[in-house]
Amino acid sequence: MVNSLKDKVALITGASRGIGKATALRLAEEGVHIAVNYLQNEDAAKKTVAELQAKGVKAAVFQTNVGDLDAHDALLAAVVKTFGTIDILIHNAALGAFKPVHRLKMNQWDLSMNINAKAFLSLAQKVLPLMEPKKEGTIIAISSLGSHRFIPNYGAIGISKAALESLIRYLGVELMPKGIRVNGVSGGLVDTDALKAFPFFDTFKTEVLKRTPAGRIGKPEDLARVVTFLCSPESSWIVGQVLIADGGLSLI
Ligand SMILES: NC(=O)c1ccc[n+]([C@@H]2O[C@H](COP(=O)([O-])OP(=O)(O)OC[C@H]3O[C@@H](n4cnc5c(N)ncnc54)[C@H](OP(=O)(O)O)[C@@H]3O)[C@@H](O)[C@H]2O)c1
Repeated sequence: MVNSLKDKVALITGASRGIGKATALRLAEEGVHIAVNYLQNEDAAKKTVAELQAKGVKAAVFQTNVGDLDAHDALLAAVVKTFGTIDILIHNAALGAFKPVHRLKMNQWDLSMNINAKAFLSLAQKVLPLMEPKKEGTIIAISSLGSHRFIPNYGAIGISKAALESLIRYLGVELMPKGIRVNGVSGGLVDTDALKAFPFFDTFKTEVLKRTPAGRIGKPEDLARVVTFLCSPESSWIVGQVLIADGGLSLI
């Protein structure tokens, strides 16, 4: 567990846009230096870094496809070379094909499993040598309601998020005695670029809105605040859990 956020170093996968970016900006307000990982959108990643630096923290871009597990050693080495260590790992990047599961190709299964779930395990294993000697570290992954509920065309991602949430529980138990706290944050529909990939998005959004007690869809900041809470000592008794922030959607 990280005792105070000021001057800690966080690696956030997929921090160029959306929830990852909002999390980076929110953590920067607590004085956390940020390694901004991204896949292909260099301009967005550099813009995020400029916004983080304007908040007075150190920030730098790290282009890596986190679904390529062989690239993780180089990613972590580059982050450590720039920042000296990693105190907080946030696995936020996700991708996947939007289609019914019964039409899913095996390479599409592999793609979302690798990026969304397996990358989390690999990155968590590889940050351990940095966190264990300090007996301090925080590991967080971002999930979604599709991990345990049917969402049309969302199976590839939803199933990988189910694996991710199970990993959070196992790693939560195994790593807490080493001083490393693992948790997850799950959200309902959040207004980011990712929504453009949903087939029939307008109909889907109308349905979601009708069923959301809070009467709106989420903003990236709604999840970023929960991630920041889970990074802070205020949440020290929360271990291996996935906190849901969804305006009440999952209760209906
Ligand atoms: N939006 C929602 O409704 C919602 C709800 C609940 C949970 N979530 C979860 O929240 C997380 C972020 O979603 P979002 O909506 O913010 O997504 P987004 O706006 O589409 O942003 C995705 C981010 O991930 C990066 N990325 C994608 N694949 C990558 C890869 N293989 N390697 C490295 N970086 C990669 C992208 O980089 P580039 O900019 O380079 O493409 C971008 O920074 C995901 O885990 C998602 O499942 C989203």
